[in-house]
Amino acid sequence: MAESVRLADRSGIGPSFRGVDLAADLADLKRERNAIILAHNYQVPELQDIADFVGDSLGLSYQAAKTNADVILFCGVHFMAETAKIINPTKRVVLPDLDAGCSLSESCPPEALATFLKKNTDKNYYVIAYINCSAGVKAQSDVICTSGNAEKIVKAAPSDRNILFVPDQNLGAWVVERTGRKMDLWRGTCYVHVEFTARSIRKIREQYAGAPLVAHPECTAAVRMLADEVCSTEKMVSFCKNSAAETIIVVTEAGMLHRLKKEIPAKNFIPGPTEHCACAECRFMKMNTLEKAFNALRDLEPEIILPEPLRKRAEAPILRMLELSK
Ligand code: 13P
Ligand code: SF4
Repeated sequence: MAESVRLADRSGIGPSFRGVDLAADLADLKRERNAIILAHNYQVPELQDIADFVGDSLGLSYQAAKTNADVILFCGVHFMAETAKIINPTKRVVLPDLDAGCSLSESCPPEALATFLKKNTDKNYYVIAYINCSAGVKAQSDVICTSGNAEKIVKAAPSDRNILFVPDQNLGAWVVERTGRKMDLWRGTCYVHVEFTARSIRKIREQYAGAPLVAHPECTAAVRMLADEVCSTEKMVSFCKNSAAETIIVVTEAGMLHRLKKEIPAKNFIPGPTEHCACAECRFMKMNTLEKAFNALRDLEPEIILPEPLRKRAEAPILRMLELSK
């Protein structure tokens, strides 16, 4: 195993060129470390294929909450691994690439939220934070939600409180539509999902007339209006399984198609196009590679480390979410 690592490190070329099976080495290392590998639906195929669990933010949070492993190798973006650490303070949580961030998370710095809340104390906000945010933002929130449970979490909010929803204005607006509950929305967006436009989506609908279209709620209202279903990435899998259609248009990050093709091989999935390209990729999600994942589990770094007071404050709203969305 040491030799294979050395070769892969030195060559910088895909390990298969050297006759080295990095996926098999990673599986051995996983057993040695008593580790679990969690991967988001947008990860590159090689990482989805070696993971113990592939899913959306909600499913991954539940997996992180129930694991007995000593180490969690989190193949996703930083806020996802950080969430796993917040609810698993005694476990080591490693991420293949520490720079795998998220534009939504960046759009709401903890200091900006603190300033806003201070300026608006008269509103006595009940803060609902979409999970795509930092621990510093979670720590200032009353409850967390994901795209898979946002409707349920908002419906459970105290009816006598003003709600501030951070950081995604599109997901927030979608939940307002679904629940009728008024909320003040932070002006953040996902840089990937706002690339889909009504024009690019209308065009693909015309090209595949009759094919149902499923979109992520991080898309703009103009795009959501053109969808047959709007849901989390996990619910996209069940939507596509249950649909009678043979061809389905999927408007989200293109990594999603790997899981769909693998689990539903008889159907044909068309990635939603943007104005500039045939499909959309999240550059942060794509920073993780099989080689970086192997190195992270071998070296136990980059590791997610959090100051205990911050972790503790960020934990309460996550546990509230897990309880409410059971
Ligand atoms: P899901 O929880 O629906 O997988 O969404 C996560 C995400 O980052 C979407 O851009
Ligand atoms: Fe963040 Fe968008 Fe990437 Fe999801 S797809 S991780 S919301 S930047």
